[in-house]
Amino acid sequence: MKLTAVRTAPAGTDAVAVAVAPETLADLKKQWKLTDAALAATGFAGNADQVSLFETSKGLLIAVGVGEIAAVNNKRARRFGALAVRAAGRLKKIALDRGALSKMEDQTDAVQAISEGVILGSYSFSEYRSKPSKPTLTNVALLNCTVKVEKDALTRGIAIGEAQNWARTLVNRPGGDLTPAALANEARAMARREGLTIKVLNLAQIQRLGLGGLLGVNRGSTQEPRFVEITYAPPRPKGTLALVGKGITFDSGGLSIKTGEGMMTMKMDMGGAAAVLGCFSAIKAVAPKCKVVGYIPMTDNMSDGDATRPGDVLKIRNGTTVEVLNTDAEGRLILADALSLAVEAKPDAIIDLATLTGAVEIALGGKIAAIMSNNGPWQDQVLTAAGKAGERMWPLPLPVDYRTYLDSDVADLRNISRSRGGGTITAGLFLEAFVPASIPWAHLDIAGTAWSDADDADVSKGGTGYGVRLLLKLAADFEPPKK
Ligand code: BES
Ligand code: MN
Ligand code: ZN
Repeated sequence: MKLTAVRTAPAGTDAVAVAVAPETLADLKKQWKLTDAALAATGFAGNADQVSLFETSKGLLIAVGVGEIAAVNNKRARRFGALAVRAAGRLKKIALDRGALSKMEDQTDAVQAISEGVILGSYSFSEYRSKPSKPTLTNVALLNCTVKVEKDALTRGIAIGEAQNWARTLVNRPGGDLTPAALANEARAMARREGLTIKVLNLAQIQRLGLGGLLGVNRGSTQEPRFVEITYAPPRPKGTLALVGKGITFDSGGLSIKTGEGMMTMKMDMGGAAAVLGCFSAIKAVAPKCKVVGYIPMTDNMSDGDATRPGDVLKIRNGTTVEVLNTDAEGRLILADALSLAVEAKPDAIIDLATLTGAVEIALGGKIAAIMSNNGPWQDQVLTAAGKAGERMWPLPLPVDYRTYLDSDVADLRNISRSRGGGTITAGLFLEAFVPASIPWAHLDIAGTAWSDADDADVSKGGTGYGVRLLLKLAADFEPPKK
C-alpha cells in the first residue's frame, strides 16, 4: 500500500474518508449532498469512532467520527487514519480528507498521526498462513497536503508506523522460529540497512563479559544467547540516551514452570527488545540530536536437566550476587546485566522496557503501562513524550522500605519478593539496584500493553509494538536531565 500527499483526489479514487466532528456534520451534509434520512438511517453524528459508509451522487463517502472539535488530538487523528483504511474493505484506492482534524492546532502533528494510523491500521500478520490473503488497498492519498512540512510529516508517520509494525511482527513470530540468534540476525540486518553500528555478542563473548544473569537464564536452553548493542551517533551529539529491552524469545518459566495457559502468549516476552529495535529502525526519520545506544539481552527461558535451579546463585555483570528462588522471574536477571553494561557507559539517562510482571496487568489493565523511576525530572520527560506519542502509562512508586523484601539469606539479593503484593514494584526495585542514583533511569513494565487480545483501530490482535512511538519521541526531544 502506498500513502501519498496530494492536492485533490487522484483519478480512480474509490472512496473518500472524511474526519467528522458533531460540529462539522452540517458542512459534511452540504458538501456531500447527504439527506437527513440517509444520516438518520445510520445514526452517524460525528461521535468519536463512529464509521458509516454513504453512497452519494459524488461517490462513496466513508464518514469517520472524531468527536467534539475541542477534544481532537493526535490520538483521534491516528484513529481516523486507521479506521479509514479498515473501513475501506475491498476497495483499492481511497483518499483522506482531514476535515474536522484541520481544527487541530499543529497540522504537522495531525498529518503525522493520520499517516501513522494508516500504516498501523493496514497491518496484518500472515507469515504463517498457507494462503495469505492479499491486501486489496493499494493507494491512500491524503488530500490538501501540499505544504513541505506536512509532506515531511506524512513521510515521518510512514516510517514510524512501519517501525511499529515491524516490532509487532517480531513479537508475533513464534518462539521456536524467532530464537535469540534469529532475533539478533534481524537486528543486524536492520542496522546494516539503516547505517547504524551494531555489536552482536555470542555465547563465548557473553561468558567473557561475565553476564551471569543472562547465562543463568540461558542454562536450560539448547539455543545460544545473544547480546546486542546498537548505536545511533549523530555528529556532535547532545548527550547520550540508553535504551534497554527485555529479549526473552520464549518464557516457559524454566523449572518454576508456567501453566499451559500461562505460556500461550509467551513468545511476546521480547516485546521490550522489539520496541527498542523498532525505534532504531526509524531513528533516522526523526534524527535525534543525542546519541542513542540500545542494549538488548536475548535468550529463551527453558527447563532442562541442567537448567538453573531454584536456590542457585548467579553473579551479575556488576558483581552483585542473586539467589534465584523462582526461575520464572527471569527478566530482571537478564536486565540486571544489560543495565550494568549501560551504566558502565555513563549515559545521561536510561530507559528500559520489559514485559516484566503479570501483576502490572492486574494493576493497570492491558492498555496502560507502568513507569517507575529514580529521578522525577526524567520520569516527567518520559511522561511528556508518551503523551505526545499517544502511548499510555502511569507512575508507580519505588518505596525504599520495600527493598528489604528482596533481601536474601545467602546472596546480595533474591529475585522474588518475600511479600505477596506489589509484584510490579518489587521487580522495579530489583532493577533499581543495578543503577546508581546518579544516573536518571526509568523502567516501563509493558507486560500488559505489549500484547492485545482484540483489534481496535490502530491496534490489532497480537503484538502491539508498544513503546516504539514513545522511544522515537523521547529520543527526538531528549534533554539530558538534571541529576
Ligand atoms: N514474562 C513474564 C511476565 C508476563 C506475564 C508477561 C504475563 C506478559 C504476560 C515474567 O517473566 C514472569 O514470569 N513474571 C512473574 C514474576 C514472578 C515469578 C515474581 C509473574 O509475573 O508471575
Ligand atoms: Mn517469567
Ligand atoms: Zn518473562
